[in-house]
Amino acid sequence: MLSPKARQIRQMFSSIAPRYDLLNHLLSLNIDKSWRRRAVSVMAAASSHPQCLWLDLCCGTGDLCLEMRRQGDARIVASDFSHPMLRLNLEKLRRRDAVRQICLVEADALTLPFPANTFDAVSIAFGLRNLESPSSGLTEMHRVLKPGGRVVVLEFSKPTSKFFDQLFQWYFFNILPRIGAALSNHDQAYSYLPESVSHFPDQAELAKMFGTCGFDNVSYLNLTGGIAAIHWAEKK
Ligand SMILES: C[S@@+](CC[C@H](N)C(=O)[O-])C[C@H]1O[C@@H](n2cnc3c(N)ncnc32)[C@H](O)[C@@H]1O
Repeated sequence: MLSPKARQIRQMFSSIAPRYDLLNHLLSLNIDKSWRRRAVSVMAAASSHPQCLWLDLCCGTGDLCLEMRRQGDARIVASDFSHPMLRLNLEKLRRRDAVRQICLVEADALTLPFPANTFDAVSIAFGLRNLESPSSGLTEMHRVLKPGGRVVVLEFSKPTSKFFDQLFQWYFFNILPRIGAALSNHDQAYSYLPESVSHFPDQAELAKMFGTCGFDNVSYLNLTGGIAAIHWAEKK
């Protein structure tokens, strides 16, 4: 049963779904594509063969799982709790003839319908921040991972240079919400984005959270001066 806050988040993503890809690529000047490529290469470095099973959580319209299919040999399950996001994802899979390689599941990332120790790798791109409890999300990912499996998190983070941080915050809080509101027809979704990032742990704090959720060998990599970061870790 979803909480009222989770239902609100689902409603927000469902209403921006038709414009989600366009705004992602426009507002990031297409840089988001290279971030996803990098995240998948971190995943593929751990395990990638036809017997492997990968899970992409909060998959949205499917850009990360399509990149997983491009770079890896694994079988892929992708899940999200927004039906409109999954419908768009499925249309994309059909256009790319990928329906047989990627299985879509409608599910809440905090209560996954999978047994423990199922997946060789689990990813989540720009999803962890939206969960009501990111640490519960990491704990649930830990549960469904096989021992020795890898979790990969791609998320907005904290720019490392003070000057760049100020410049980016100005864009993030002043320009992005206006363009987002105009093109998505949703007043709050693109104001929620910088707000939620500002409340999310920075690189070092997030790395610590992985440790408290039972993960080992936590590492991270800054992307585009720390605007985003990839964290990865292993289940003992
Ligand atoms: C910012 S989008 C990211 C989509 C995709 N991973 C990407 O890289 O573009 C966040 C996604 O997380 C999903 N989401 C948020 N909270 C969730 C939850 N508790 N369970 C499942 N999906 C959730 C939303 O429906 C949305 O599709």
